[in-house]
Amino acid sequence: MSAADQPVNQNSAPVRIERVFQRFTLGQRWEHLILIVSFTILFLTGIPQKYRFTEWSQWLLSTPQRVYWVRQIHHTAALLLTAGVLYHLGNALVLMARRRLSSDMFPTFQDVRDAWQMLRYLLFLTREKPAFGKYNFEQKFTYWFLFFGLGIMVVSGFILWFPEVVTRFLPGGVVPAAFLAHSNEAVIAAIFIVVWHFFHVHFQRLNLSMFTGKLSEEEMRLYHANEFERLTGEKADLDETKGGSQ
Ligand code: HEM
Ligand code: HEM
Repeated sequence: MSAADQPVNQNSAPVRIERVFQRFTLGQRWEHLILIVSFTILFLTGIPQKYRFTEWSQWLLSTPQRVYWVRQIHHTAALLLTAGVLYHLGNALVLMARRRLSSDMFPTFQDVRDAWQMLRYLLFLTREKPAFGKYNFEQKFTYWFLFFGLGIMVVSGFILWFPEVVTRFLPGGVVPAAFLAHSNEAVIAAIFIVVWHFFHVHFQRLNLSMFTGKLSEEEMRLYHANEFERLTGEKADLDETKGGSQ
């Protein structure tokens, strides 16, 4: 844009135009919302069942009707989560068949190098922070950890739900194994989300892109410098003093 084209305010001072970058599609944001809602309900209705010998759980599940309703709600939220997971996988398969599946979320050796460089930066062994593409190593780790974690929850959950159907094809030992996996993975996944995921999206910096769908130019330059350069052809000028790992 030439100087003549620059918008001016009444005092003729140049107005700085901040570009905004699309990060997540509406569909992706809906998928994430379904994850938040279903996961929270599943956790809140699963935990009283896991700790059924505690006082608070016995107060909550004090009548057969309450147990019945908590389980009904758990099963309904499970169907919502399963629908979200099936949509996600189905959509990926369709995109793959059309050769349009983006490889942005797949781990590469560069992620190992980035993680190593970030560790060195945090230990004051280098002043240079790694520059990231669309997703950094931590975001890829989040995705794949929850991909497999939720996979375990869905498979083991359906085994617990329909044990007599499953044991027509598989040995009976699969039911206690599924119980153990379901019960423990629920706690692991919840701790991971609260400690790791919430830390990265709330505390390290307030990242609202999963709700607005967008990232500002400054966020792109700071946290996704390689992606910024790929999209604009401009230098990102990463400011070392301001950045974060995400
Ligand atoms: C498609 C996904 C899921 C299905 C089909 C499912 C199904 C089940 C079933 C059948 C039970 C046995 C009690 C009952 O009949 O209600 C159960 C228990 C439980 N679920 Fe799920 N569930 C799913 C996802 C989750 C998730 C995401 C969490 C937590 C984040 C969770 C946490 C629990 C816990 C803690 C228990 C109690 C286990 C115990 O007694 O130790 N579930 N679930
Ligand atoms: C209140 C709760 C939550 C908030 C505020 C939140 C926020 C966010 C934000 C802002 C991002 C985008 C990060 C980026 O720029 O890439 C994100 C990504 C993601 N979220 Fe959540 N999230 C929440 C709960 C959950 C839950 C419950 C799950 C799964 C069970 C989940 C799974 C993911 C995954 C797989 C990604 C993509 C990987 C990444 O970008 O880190 N989130 N979340």
